[in-house]
Amino acid sequence: IEKNEFKDDLLNWFHENKRQMPWRETNNPYYIWLSEVMLQQTQVNTVRPYYNAFIDRFPTIQELSNAKEEDVLKYWEGLGYYSRVRNFHEAVKEVQNEYNGIVPDNPDEFKKLKGVGPYTNAAVMSIVYNHPIPAVDGNVLRVWSRLTCNQQDIALPKTKKDFEEELQPFVKTESGDFNQAMMELGATICTPKKTLCIMCPVQNHCLAFAKGQVSELPVKKKK
Ligand code: ADE
Repeated sequence: IEKNEFKDDLLNWFHENKRQMPWRETNNPYYIWLSEVMLQQTQVNTVRPYYNAFIDRFPTIQELSNAKEEDVLKYWEGLGYYSRVRNFHEAVKEVQNEYNGIVPDNPDEFKKLKGVGPYTNAAVMSIVYNHPIPAVDGNVLRVWSRLTCNQQDIALPKTKKDFEEELQPFVKTESGDFNQAMMELGATICTPKKTLCIMCPVQNHCLAFAKGQVSELPVKKKK
């Protein structure tokens, strides 16, 4: 992949076509963090109303950290994966008590917080502060395996590690937009089935497309 041309094509497409989302209208790290936690196992359109109701009820770190767990859980009812919100609530209390209510802007500090794994760390730190960290979620595993025609099993940790290394050169600048553009491509064009290659802004950079192997990728072995 020609790094600069690929990245320009992807970012131009993203700037012109990105879907409007409430968390894309803010730089508030607490709101971006909340959105990434909600988006982890849940699709954008489901998350939207939950996100809006949650920030209406708990508009600041301080207000969330003062809330009772049962009240917070009510605002998550229906989203599932409730450990996500319990961890998030705990982590927000840590921020309130140990960081004066300011979300750490240093990835080494941020990732120490409860529930903040490599994906959440990369997503929040790149979107809010442009830290150069690739955010590799399921969308990105699929997109990158196709772009590079990589036959490795995406369920293996080694594959994710390799992809993070390969993506490192692309996130030196505009990392937040690059990471979100990769996710957006995966959600709207480079989908699991019925891919829309005909509309893809980076079709001419895609090795799987060139070889006619898009529908065979990614490789994902059952456990
Ligand atoms: N999925 C998870 N995070 C996302 C984001 N910031 N934009 C679009 N889809 C996402």
